Amino acid sequence: MDYKVADLSLADFGRREIRLAEHEMPGLMAVRKEYAEAKPLRGAKIMGSLHMTIQTAVLIETLVELGADVRWVSCNIFSTQDHAAAAVVVGPDGTVEAPKGVPVFAWKGETLEEYWWCTDQALSWPDGTPPNMILDDGGDATLLVHKGAEYEKAGAVPTADESDPEEWGIILETLRRTIGERNGRWTETAGAIKGVTEETTTGVHRLYEMAKAGTLAFPAINVNDSVTKSKFDNKYGCRHSVIDGLNRATDVLIGGKVALVAGYGDVGKGCAEALKGQGARVIVTEIDPICALQAAMDGFQVATLEDVVDKVDIFVTTTGNFNIITADHMGRMKHQAIVSNIGHFDNEIDMAGLAKIDGIVKEEVKPQVATWTFPDGKTIIVLAEGRLMNLGCATGHPSFVMSNSFTNQVIAQIELFTKTEEYPVGVYVLPKHLDEKVARLHLDALGVKLTTLSKQQAEYIGVDVEGPYKPDHYRY
Ligand code: NAI
Repeated sequence: MDYKVADLSLADFGRREIRLAEHEMPGLMAVRKEYAEAKPLRGAKIMGSLHMTIQTAVLIETLVELGADVRWVSCNIFSTQDHAAAAVVVGPDGTVEAPKGVPVFAWKGETLEEYWWCTDQALSWPDGTPPNMILDDGGDATLLVHKGAEYEKAGAVPTADESDPEEWGIILETLRRTIGERNGRWTETAGAIKGVTEETTTGVHRLYEMAKAGTLAFPAINVNDSVTKSKFDNKYGCRHSVIDGLNRATDVLIGGKVALVAGYGDVGKGCAEALKGQGARVIVTEIDPICALQAAMDGFQVATLEDVVDKVDIFVTTTGNFNIITADHMGRMKHQAIVSNIGHFDNEIDMAGLAKIDGIVKEEVKPQVATWTFPDGKTIIVLAEGRLMNLGCATGHPSFVMSNSFTNQVIAQIELFTKTEEYPVGVYVLPKHLDEKVARLHLDALGVKLTTLSKQQAEYIGVDVEGPYKPDHYRY
């Protein structure tokens, strides 16, 4: 088996944590049971690009139990948990000497070159055949396939110019190498893929853009906008893991400090609530009047970054947008202000601009925590080099909330793989009865007892006793 992880001897540790996680992931375990006989993913060759954590290990092994052949990478250079990666490679029945699990190409602290090499490896089976499904988080695997096929079609050589960001140059280099090795490979891959299921807001945004431009090559299910994903993982997951990231990175007392949360969408709402719960005085920035009004009514001061930047102790960006915190902002911050991002990509904070400041000195305190000292002696603390701090500095979201997200992922994979002809190229969300099913699978574990509608009550509000209970436009 081909694979590349940090250290296979960590597999036992990983396996022990996977067993604990399985108990906390009732949705995934129920799906395993439901499809134990049918094995609906038999014949599926799934390439996954999603943070290689313990929770993801349970997802991967669920896909395998449902019959899939899987290859995996992390979707961020810092988010892999090396013991999880090792355990997945070794597999539940394998040993370090004779691994029998799933090929994983991921380790904590990859370079960008290594990251794109890993993505390329996971997109090609050892016999040279392509995958027929992608499970993506942030859209990097989907992007590589699409861009590769575009360059092949145009017969052009992917070449970066000076104005391109560093990462784009690396992507183009990966494409140039792979097209050079076998021209037509990406076109074949794009043609072989029955569909992609996308995990996060930022990846979904890319998919809708491609669909609008008419360049999307295969159907996609937007898993993020299942209610049981974005209203749980993005909100309650971040409510948990933002604090975990801050604590493990800095252990600074949050109570009494001034914290700023940029963006009050699902992630921002979770972060602001968590910081408030720790006793911080939280300021929110927003561009959307509806979200700004929500923040105000939830009791937060809403201000612009420019007006408060010199009064804030802890910054967390959650916008999925770029250039939220600029080098100029960082120059105006307090001594030892903590600067972090929990959005998908690292461009929310202008790290390149920070590095270009004349006389600035960076010092690593420990992995994923660095001080940047300005010429006047003022220092700021930047977490995970501006990449998502909850996965860079801590272990991301806990199992229970990820069980909701990943149960949606498995159901979406089954939908696209087994009902391909029902999904012409486009972007879809799962139907509401499946969303409700995911929630239902998590109720028992929390001791929730649902009230059952009477037939008359169901008729009165115009729904079925079995659901769905809300129209599609309902916002929760
Ligand atoms: P969202 O769209 O619900 O929220 C983003 C908010 O930022 C919106 O309300 C928008 O109006 C606001 N915004 C945009 N530009 C802004 C600006 N210049 N200043 C202030 N506010 C601005 O998106 P969601 O679901 O909250 O996701 C945010 C990011 O977090 C995405 O990149 C997503 O992929 C990522 N994510 C990260 C997770 C993690 O574990 N680290 C988990 C889930 C999502």
